[in-house]
Amino acid sequence: MSQLAGKVAFITGAGSGIGRGIAERLAREGADICIADIDLPGAEATADLVRQFGRRALVVKANVAAPAQLAQAVDACVGELGRLDIALANAGIGRAGSVLEMSLKDWQDQIDINLTGVFLTVQATARAMVRLGNGGRIVCISSLAAETTGALMWSYSATKAGVRMMVRGWAQELGPAGITVNAIGPGVIDTPLAAGLAGEADGVIRSNLEGRTPVGRVGRPSDIAGLVAFLAGPDGEFMTGSYLIMDGGLRDARANVQPDAAVVQEMQRIAGRGAERRARHQVLIDDRD
Ligand SMILES: NC(=O)c1ccc[n+]([C@@H]2O[C@H](COP(=O)([O-])OP(=O)(O)OC[C@H]3O[C@@H](n4cnc5c(N)ncnc54)[C@H](O)[C@@H]3O)[C@@H](O)[C@H]2O)c1
Repeated sequence: MSQLAGKVAFITGAGSGIGRGIAERLAREGADICIADIDLPGAEATADLVRQFGRRALVVKANVAAPAQLAQAVDACVGELGRLDIALANAGIGRAGSVLEMSLKDWQDQIDINLTGVFLTVQATARAMVRLGNGGRIVCISSLAAETTGALMWSYSATKAGVRMMVRGWAQELGPAGITVNAIGPGVIDTPLAAGLAGEADGVIRSNLEGRTPVGRVGRPSDIAGLVAFLAGPDGEFMTGSYLIMDGGLRDARANVQPDAAVVQEMQRIAGRGAERRARHQVLIDDRD
């Protein structure tokens, strides 16, 4: 696999989880990788993986919520690796909490990192891509939570839904410069961020999740990385402004939960009434003379 030979990718939050999986996959495809993260030991561990594929790795400490740090990181990427072809706005955090309990700090941190951080990453990398004149591929990691939510997930969902919309506008502006911009909506992926949702390998949370997920397993960073490789490679050229869910079918899984006997009886009563009404309507629909 060398469809990205000679390319350079800039990935935020590549010191762990999904970002690390993406770094590994893009390196396997032939790209050199700039790893931008607040966690230097994590970033160095990812750099070691990249180098195992014979690719160059550059680690830069950058907080995506700090515009100056991010701009410096992109400059370092272009300066040391020589180009910038692929950008991943991947860094993100989750702060679950009810509307009655959510602190302003938790709310603001999510806005600063998940929403402003994505904007700043795309702005800094797109400016460099436009300046370099080679086009580019930008992928923002949104979430399945951009379209499903819950009593504790609403604030995280708000940031991820924002990302989902922003890429559509950016795709309009950057298309003429040869730059595509897409969002990915992962379901539950087994990373430190989602430890509470994914559970432990042999635990009840995991087996419940696997039971509810149509493909029967939890997601892996390599799943998302495969989709990024498609978007960043030659086959992704015509896709821009899209939001691609990759969740093993989990989005609609709630509809598959077997209802208890009382619920089934009520559903049958309602269906019975519906059948009478439908039969009456059918007579009216068929009357076309
Ligand atoms: N894991 C899932 O189930 C899941 C599902 C949907 C979406 N996502 C999204 O995927 C992305 C990656 O998540 P993950 O599961 O790999 O999490 P993770 O916690 O394993 O990795 C996140 C990385 O981002 C870094 N980071 C955090 N804040 C940062 C900041 N301000 N500046 C720079 N780096 C920062 C962390 O140090 C870490 O290395 C996030 O945007 C997350 O919201 C994850």
